[in-house]
Amino acid sequence: MCGPDGATVKGYGEDICQGPCHDERNGSFSDDIEEVALAGHENATVKEDDADLDEAIRGRHEQLRNELHFLHQRDLRVSPCEDEVGIGVGRPGASYILRLRARRLLFEQTESWDESASALLKTASEGPTTVLNKALLEKINTICPFASATAILDTGCGVAQVLGSLLGTYGVSLPVETRLVAADLSPGMISVVDARREAEVSAGNSIWNRVETAIWDAQNLAAVGVPDETFSHITAGLVLFMVERPQDVLLETHRVLCDGGLFGMTSFRSVQWMDLVGEALNAIKPGSDLPPIPAAWASTQSIARQLEDAGFRDVTAEEVKTYYEFEDPEPMTRFNVANIPSVKMVTAEFSADEVEKAIQWMLQWLAERFSSGKGKLEGIAIVATARK
Ligand SMILES: C[S@@+](CC[C@H](N)C(=O)[O-])C[C@H]1O[C@@H](n2cnc3c(N)ncnc32)[C@H](O)[C@@H]1O
Repeated sequence: MCGPDGATVKGYGEDICQGPCHDERNGSFSDDIEEVALAGHENATVKEDDADLDEAIRGRHEQLRNELHFLHQRDLRVSPCEDEVGIGVGRPGASYILRLRARRLLFEQTESWDESASALLKTASEGPTTVLNKALLEKINTICPFASATAILDTGCGVAQVLGSLLGTYGVSLPVETRLVAADLSPGMISVVDARREAEVSAGNSIWNRVETAIWDAQNLAAVGVPDETFSHITAGLVLFMVERPQDVLLETHRVLCDGGLFGMTSFRSVQWMDLVGEALNAIKPGSDLPPIPAAWASTQSIARQLEDAGFRDVTAEEVKTYYEFEDPEPMTRFNVANIPSVKMVTAEFSADEVEKAIQWMLQWLAERFSSGKGKLEGIAIVATARK
């Protein structure tokens, strides 16, 4: 048996978890994942002489062990086993490999953010999310002015795109005692925010001296001792659709928000520049799909429902158009391929030559539509706010 509810893992027989089980409720870890993997292998219809597949499984298995070690060190919980099975139900051997890939997604995205942190600094001052963050902050400020803020948390802050924009526009109206916290799960992102604080202060933006940084998992702020009702304002820019347990983020956000406090978040409904990358990857290697934005975070109605389910009131959610404008398509294309974690996850299976072919495919597509080189791609974002 395996999984938080003691449910049997589907598709691998009754006794799939033969070792001590991972119990998500108390967040403890054990070697049961290894047992799951081995049991999956045994139950698979993989022939003993299927050497390639066997080797692939062993290779993945080793990665999985390292990943679990990584997650364990950060006090993260792995998702229930049931989440990982049933993907690509073909022959059991194949679905086993896909199951490990699902685990890799979680891990690589976290690690990838670390790797791309410095490069992403430029998204704080240029690119499609600057417009989006402005819209988010205007909306929050209208409903619950920053001039009344006692403590502000930017959760999943990245390089502090949202908080930086907030300080730039509303910094002067913030009370001197307002606490400012930028928190992210990625230590790489937090080091970039620390370096940014120094640079901003040196450039004369002394308000940055007040920015505290923290490596926090937005899904479990209790684990790092954040008390109930700590913040008057919480922002989460482009975070909810990419975490493993978004509902936990909402519940934790609700818990640490003061009564009457305001939460503001952004998401995407559709993103033309990501569709372009997806098409190019598929053209070069069919079946190389980028993970889509989960439906729950891709519509105003669904986001509103999630916020209400987590106990928020006065929920608003609206679409905002945003554009990825470029003078020259090549740097934009290369930047996206090199730094967007979901893209890197897919291209990890590509050779350097295939990656280059995908880049050339995109450049050709862009050249056909924007003959002068200069152009813009559209994104439909969602800005939502909710009060505790
Ligand atoms: C798309 S970036 C958004 C960055 C920034 N908030 C913005 O609006 O541009 C997503 C960020 O969420 C962070 N993240 C992912 N999972 C997280 C979690 N469980 N807790 C906190 N941050 C997380 C990533 O490290 C990354 O910095």
